[in-house]
Amino acid sequence: MENKATLLEMRNIDKSFPGVHALKEVDFVLESGQVHILLGENGAGKSTLIKILAGIYQSDSGEILLEGSPTVIPDARTGRDLGISVIYQELNLVPDLSVAKNIYLGREPVLPGFLKKVDWEHVERESREVMKRLDVDIDILAPVRSLSVADQQMVEIARALAFDCKILVMDEPTSSLSGHEIHELFNAVARLREQGVGIIYRGFCHAQAPSGELLKLFNSGGNHFLRSTA
Ligand SMILES: Nc1ncnc2c1ncn2[C@@H]1O[C@H](COP(=O)(O)OP(=O)(O)OP(=O)(O)O)[C@@H](O)[C@H]1O
Ligand SMILES: [Mg+2]
Repeated sequence: MENKATLLEMRNIDKSFPGVHALKEVDFVLESGQVHILLGENGAGKSTLIKILAGIYQSDSGEILLEGSPTVIPDARTGRDLGISVIYQELNLVPDLSVAKNIYLGREPVLPGFLKKVDWEHVERESREVMKRLDVDIDILAPVRSLSVADQQMVEIARALAFDCKILVMDEPTSSLSGHEIHELFNAVARLREQGVGIIYRGFCHAQAPSGELLKLFNSGGNHFLRSTA
């Protein structure tokens, strides 16, 4: 799916903490199928901007438009329901449950009827499907604790995808991964962008970004400029 719809527009976002003007009238635009890699100084405001998008912080002023509509994101749950998924460095999975159960954790579909039995067939079928969409080979019946950190991260991405995330945000996804695992992650990111998902992730060095991606280089106060990788 190649379309240039604007998924997200953050306009004039301003945010101060006591003694720090973290974001100064920041504009940020993300289109469907785009990947933005955030780079820049410590304290430049990258995480603050992401947290405002995720509903964790509220901006002091400015507005957020999702697919053109002004939107208020008062908390993280609302953000998720609006299709914004954030994956943090500390992964948020239950080690003893299977991959499939983790993907549907807290959002299990139920069968019709009084008993409200979980529709495990649906859970397993859709979990397999989502792994296929990511082009990864992970046993969806294996307990999460048996997976590498890289595969656990992939399960988080699968979870986002299973619930139609439109914007996927990753906070330093590559910091603990090996070369091969980074390659797999970038491959999955490429699959997602083909499907129209907009992706924002915190990179930590230019050299790791695949070519042709958009780098957003942050100075202080959330000021950033755009550059393409070679
Ligand atoms: N909850 C908070 N309370 C007070 N100050 C904060 C808070 N969160 C962020 N800040 C301040 O806001 C500024 C921007 O911080 P932010 O974490 O967004 O930067 P960053 O670009 O993510 O940095 P890093 O590269 O270190 O992750 C910093 O000066 C930081 O100290
Ligand atoms: Mg940060």
